[in-house]
Amino acid sequence: MRLILYISVFVLLCTLVFSGLYHRFVKPIQNKRLKKILRICLILFFAFLILPPWIYRIFPAIAKITGRREIMNFYFFFMGLLSFTTVYLFAAAIAEKILWLGRKKTYETLDPKRRLFLTQMFNMGILSLSGVSTAVGGIVNMQPPTIFDIKIPLKMMPDDLKNFKIVQISDIHIGPLLGREFLEDLVSRVNQLKPSLIAITGDLVDGRVSQIGSAIEVLSHLKSEYGTYFVSGNHEYYSGHDEWMKFLKQLGIKILENENDFLQVGNATVLIGGVPDYRTSPVKGDPHRAIFHVRGKADLSVLMSHQPLKCDEARKAGFNLQLSGHTHAGQFHPWTWVVKLIYPYVKGLNDHMGMWIYVNQGTGFWGPPIRLGTKSEITQFQFEKSLT
Ligand SMILES: [Fe+2]
Repeated sequence: MRLILYISVFVLLCTLVFSGLYHRFVKPIQNKRLKKILRICLILFFAFLILPPWIYRIFPAIAKITGRREIMNFYFFFMGLLSFTTVYLFAAAIAEKILWLGRKKTYETLDPKRRLFLTQMFNMGILSLSGVSTAVGGIVNMQPPTIFDIKIPLKMMPDDLKNFKIVQISDIHIGPLLGREFLEDLVSRVNQLKPSLIAITGDLVDGRVSQIGSAIEVLSHLKSEYGTYFVSGNHEYYSGHDEWMKFLKQLGIKILENENDFLQVGNATVLIGGVPDYRTSPVKGDPHRAIFHVRGKADLSVLMSHQPLKCDEARKAGFNLQLSGHTHAGQFHPWTWVVKLIYPYVKGLNDHMGMWIYVNQGTGFWGPPIRLGTKSEITQFQFEKSLT
């Protein structure tokens, strides 16, 4: 039922976008033959955009034989280009209306030849800008993850936490677009940071164990003093959650689903708790259950939660720091703006009434392989005494 709803919304959105593109780019053309060719091109392009994800879902074997990574990358790159074109068209249409406001001559009363020339110039401008945005965003996205060095001030800071370091990676999305090579490079970068503890905050996979299990095995090479902890994201639930949790446990990764671990760091104590994804898990994610029995007993209490939600509950439960991901900070505009309407915190370190919440921008990416104004991220956290 949910799949049918997604398909319907997707097709409706595509139809709206394409009717807009047709009216803007094809309809004004006067040469009938060229117009016909462009119309066919647009229909083929439309079919290309709509079909691959559903073919991939319904017939994964066919997609595998046809080299799905190349097809999906090409497909998503086009989706990015289309997204930029739609936004720029929309913005330019508003600007155009404003420019013609209050003038005696209207656009419609201009000489047809001059009107066509203006339309073509306008369209070329939009397409060029979209092309440049897509290319630049693609180059930015190809850069290796940036290491963000974050210092967390704590009111009560035992000396033994001075050298305690958490490294967070999130939203890696190994699947049709990113594979084993990316993960091998990532594991090496994380190990070089010499973490005390590694936190993976969900959306690790886009695919079944049978499809990408051999790539995920690379995570068994992660090295840290207190181990690797994992909480599920929404994409784990789309990809066979139970099977994945069993697989990750076999790799030595500790899963936290409304649970915690109590660590002795010299004379200090650290509680690491975790909740399953708030929106897709059939088991309700509950910060109170994740700290149950040991509330207030640790010098530092850290909650791992895929989505940056329920911050109030986490704060009331007694956590000092929440580590989240999921948003990707929007990856590129307009989604960088849209995501701010959906989530209270979308990236970086935020003070939620005395509890710190950090949102990782995503170590991998999802959808178009594009980033503009956001960075692929590995985060390392160290702790210091608060001055206030
Ligand atoms: Fe997610």
